[in-house]
This record gives sequence, C-alpha cells and structure tokens, in this order.
Amino acid sequence: MSLNTQVGKVKLRTPLLLASGYITETPEFFLKAQPYGCAGMVTRSLKQHVPAERTRVPAPRYAVFDQGSMLNCEWGNEKPWTYWKEYGVNQIKSTGCPIIISVSGRDLDGCCNLIRSFDELGVNAYEINISCSHSGVLHGNLNIDTVHLQHVLETVRQVTETPIWIKLSYSNFLLQMATEAESLGADAIVCTNSIGPGMLIDTKTAKPKLGIKGGGGGVTGKAIFPIALWCVHQLSQTLKIPVVGCGGIFMADEVIQMLMAGASAVQLYTAPALKGPRVFKRILSDLEKFLETHPQYTSVRELIGLTLDKTNGHRFSSPPPVVDEKKCTGCGICIDACAFDAISLVRRPGRAALAVIADNCISCNACIGVCPPKFDAIKASF
Ligand SMILES: Cc1cc2nc3c(=O)[nH]c(=O)nc-3n(C[C@H](O)[C@H](O)[C@H](O)COP(=O)(O)O)c2cc1C
Repeated sequence: MSLNTQVGKVKLRTPLLLASGYITETPEFFLKAQPYGCAGMVTRSLKQHVPAERTRVPAPRYAVFDQGSMLNCEWGNEKPWTYWKEYGVNQIKSTGCPIIISVSGRDLDGCCNLIRSFDELGVNAYEINISCSHSGVLHGNLNIDTVHLQHVLETVRQVTETPIWIKLSYSNFLLQMATEAESLGADAIVCTNSIGPGMLIDTKTAKPKLGIKGGGGGVTGKAIFPIALWCVHQLSQTLKIPVVGCGGIFMADEVIQMLMAGASAVQLYTAPALKGPRVFKRILSDLEKFLETHPQYTSVRELIGLTLDKTNGHRFSSPPPVVDEKKCTGCGICIDACAFDAISLVRRPGRAALAVIADNCISCNACIGVCPPKFDAIKASF
C-alpha cells in the first residue's frame, strides 16, 4: 500500500501538503506537521517589497464560522522574504521534504528577483499567487486577468527552469486562465485560493466581523469544499499538467474525493490552522484504512482521476436510499427533511421506532445528509 504521489517533478511521500498562509510565514508549523505525514509545504506568498500600508493587518483578521469555515483579511508579510532565503528554506530542506516558494505575482519585477534569488538554494517549485480573493478586489482581480497571466509566465519562464505552479481561485474564467497558463509553460495548477470576498456581521454591534475597510474577506475551509472539488474536476478534465486540489479538506474522505476528481496531491490550510498539526496524522490514518478496506486499490495514485469518466451524462434513475434497521434510532430528523412526505416512523416492539421509506420516494437523498453522523443510518444506493 503506497501513499506516494508526485506533482510533475516534485515527489511527495503522501498526497498532503501544507498550503500557503500565515502558518507558513515561518517553518515552525510545518516542522510540527511533518512527523505526522505532511509531505511538504508552501511558504506564505512572499513579496520583494511590502508596501508600508501593508505592514499592519486590520484586526480582527479572522472570523471562524460553522465549526470549520473562516473569513480572513490577511495581507503583506510580517517577516521579510530574506528570512526564508537565509534561514527558512534550509530548515525545511533538512527534513528531506519539498519546499515550494509562494511568490506574489502582482509585482512582476519583484517576483522575478525573488525567483532568481531562491533558485540559488535549489527549491522544489514556485507557486505564483495571483488569486487572493479579498486583495483581488483591491488590486485589479488578477485571478481573471489573462493579459497579466501572460506577462507573468512569459517573464518568469525565462528566469527559471524550476517548476512553476500557478495558484488560481474559482471564477467564471478558471478554465480560460488555466488553459492559458498551461500553454505558456506552467507545470501545475493549484486551485483554489480563498473564494469571495465574503462578509459576516456581529449583530450585537452591527460591525463587520473583520477589521478590513469594506468588511470583506476570503472564504476558506469547509464552506468551499464542493466548489474547490468542482474546480479540480473541471481542470483535470481539460488540462494535461497536474492539478493540486485545495479548499476545505478536513478528512480523508475529502482527500479521496479530490484525488478521484483528478488532483495529483492536495493542500490544506484551514484544517491545520484550526485543528493543529495532528490533523495530518488523522487524515493519513483514515486514508490508509480506506486503502486497506478497498483492496482493489494498492496506492493513492490509483485513485487519481477515477471520477473523470463518470460525469458524462445525467443519471435519471437511482434506487431509493436504504435505512439500516440496526442503526436507526427513530429520531425522526429525516422526516422533517423529506419534502415529498415519503418517510414515516413505524413502531418496533421493545425497540426504537424505525424510519421507513415509501414508494413515493424520488431518491433526492436529502435524508442521507441530515441523518446524524453518529447514527449514519441511511445509505445511498447508487
Ligand atoms: C489566514 C489565511 C492566509 C492565507 N494566505 C495565503 C497566502 O499568503 N498565499 C496564498 O496563496 N494563499 C493564502 N491563503 C489561502 C490558502 O493557501 C488556501 O488556498 C485556502 O485557505 C483554501 O484552503 P483551505 O480551505 O484548506 O484553507 C490563506 C488562507 C488563510 C485562511
């Protein structure tokens, strides 16, 4: 059973990477996560010059919601890029894991200068960030700017032979941007960065929960997983270069979905940021369990792209879900979620009532999603 994978030339001992952000401003978090199976890390997006107005971050900078999603309004770098050149890169390299330097793609000269300088250290790849959702609004939406993308890749490709990953966010122009990046020599697409901007308001004070002017921040974590997965699936159907999936991954099941949608590897940010570095251990242990219980797969690489040929047509018929008589506690939550009045409870002598699905069930599957995970009593039958 093998957990190895690779993104082009970058070899990974597991499919899990630590994504760019505040917790990769220094190597410390990765050094804690690496023994738990995190296979490599992407630095905070570095800039050669951090404008004076970006040396302080508005506060509060985070708003966590729904137990696993968040808004953030981070910007700038608290440490200068030279910190990574002089200290950080060697710290990561000493673990034997790949280091990917994230470079802000906004200032093209600065981006090239950083790449020339890091090339001397032999880093594994550059991830060029043109997709921060909240700063996008402030700085010209580079995430959908094909002309800027062209300038970036045409220039940067002349400066380095090291793999270049382009980091994009969900947008209506995602495929256009990614196809353009591939044709101009990008080695991989990473998707998605934060999505938005989004906003939350504290109703006691009527103030936005984030301190940034305008109140808008990037949405990350559980709330964006289905969108990130859709992006990865679309990109993988279209591109030849590898896709790295990112967005809302907290569990092994979500890693597997990303791989099946075509990702060669995944990046995590909100899950480790909110749950700590041990999240990698739990995910990898569940990933191993999945492989053990599905002996038709001997490696994670065999999962990559399995869904790509399974979305070609509509499916109009699907058998109704099945209630597990042993697990159902008769709580009735599924009844409230059934818009078609197809579920009722029947008494069972000496036992809890049982949810029964009638013939007018149209297999919408809403009941499966509301059955509490601790009962897990209703299963789809595809
Ligand atoms: C606080 C915070 C800071 C971030 N900073 C960066 C950054 O500097 N560069 C970048 O490319 N992405 C940055 N991101 C985006 C993450 O790398 C990642 O793409 C996004 O959070 C979606 O993944 P997740 O749902 O696993 O968090 C940041 C995200 C958060 C929450």
